[in-house]
Amino acid sequence: MQRLVNKQVVLGVSGGIAAYKSAELVRRLRDAGAEVRVVMTQAAREFITPLTLQALSGHPVHGDLLDPAAEAAMGHIELARWADLVLIAPTTADLMARLAQGRGDDLLTTLVLATDAPVAIAPAMNQAMWRDPATQANLATLQERGVRVFGPAAGEQACGDVGPGRMLEPVDLATRAAECFELGLLTGRHLLINAGPTREAIDPVRYISNHSSGKMGFALAAAAAELDARVTLVAGPVNLPTPPRVTRIDVVSARDMLEACLAALPADLFIAAAAVADYRPEQCATSKLKKSPDGNDGMLLRMVRNPDILATLASHPQRPWCVGFAAETDNLLDYARDKLVRKNLDLIIANDVSLPGIGFNSDQNAVTLIDRDLNQTSLPQTSKQKLARQIMTQLAARLAGPN
Ligand code: C5P
Repeated sequence: MQRLVNKQVVLGVSGGIAAYKSAELVRRLRDAGAEVRVVMTQAAREFITPLTLQALSGHPVHGDLLDPAAEAAMGHIELARWADLVLIAPTTADLMARLAQGRGDDLLTTLVLATDAPVAIAPAMNQAMWRDPATQANLATLQERGVRVFGPAAGEQACGDVGPGRMLEPVDLATRAAECFELGLLTGRHLLINAGPTREAIDPVRYISNHSSGKMGFALAAAAAELDARVTLVAGPVNLPTPPRVTRIDVVSARDMLEACLAALPADLFIAAAAVADYRPEQCATSKLKKSPDGNDGMLLRMVRNPDILATLASHPQRPWCVGFAAETDNLLDYARDKLVRKNLDLIIANDVSLPGIGFNSDQNAVTLIDRDLNQTSLPQTSKQKLARQIMTQLAARLAGPN
């Protein structure tokens, strides 16, 4: 069921007696790692209360197409885009008919029209209704359009009939939902990435920092999530949006960053993309420092070493596979190899920050990967997004390999 980890499932519930099983389905999907938002038809509310499904999914249930408050929170188009899968369980004969007609007369049908995600239905109805030629024609139409159909099972029905039309059990539906997703290269892996600069306070209004934009680390986090990893991104102060499916923890100083990284363990892989300040002022003044009135004096700031986050994690009992960055202006590969050994890393990513147009604060980069056997792989200049995907594919292969 690893395929459901981090997946965003819209669970549609329509008005049939099997709706009581939707409660367990929400639990099964969440247990498998999916995030679930529930959309109920009006009739579904006659069978199970929104409150039950809200409590189990951890989110308010969506119901009305024209409710301004709900639309402001997460509108129907947003919800349609959010979904990686729209699973409708139970799907009544009436809903099948409305879906086959392409109607948009309530939130659920509108959402199905608006989504690009796969749509799966779990029909549940009386056996005679299921066998009815109208239902069978609707089924054929929906299947032709690529809607996946889970079940129905045959057996004893709530009305006393025996035959096809029972909704599949929640555990089977969760398995079928998982099968809608491919296994990614990093499915089931937890990746910890830090990014951006750190700020080291001098007094309440001043700090020492650097020019790191965080772009490379954020691009790596996005690429890892695309490959299906669970990603924790510990970010210094940057002005970047959080990539989809990434858990972001904002920090300020190097010591905060270390603490957040340690708290995120265990992880399979740690990528230290942050430009951590090596030194911090020994003391942070409690009130704003004043200049002296004579105007000609200097100022001495005593600095002390910050912890090395990467070296700390590389020698931790729960040591992840450790990847560092070496941003250098000269002797790039020599310094990078030296850092790989000194910090006990599995791989180092060397980039030459003296070249114009790449590295710090720029949108492009070019890097060389050096592993423990000192094998080198050069990835030529391209956007940080493309490069991040290339790096992540390389790292995923190494994680899967004999290393
Ligand atoms: O020693 P140097 O700063 O050049 O090493 C760079 C690598 O070490 C980067 O991956 C950086 O994130 C990491 N580092 C760290 N903690 C520090 C300094 C650097 O994790 N205090």
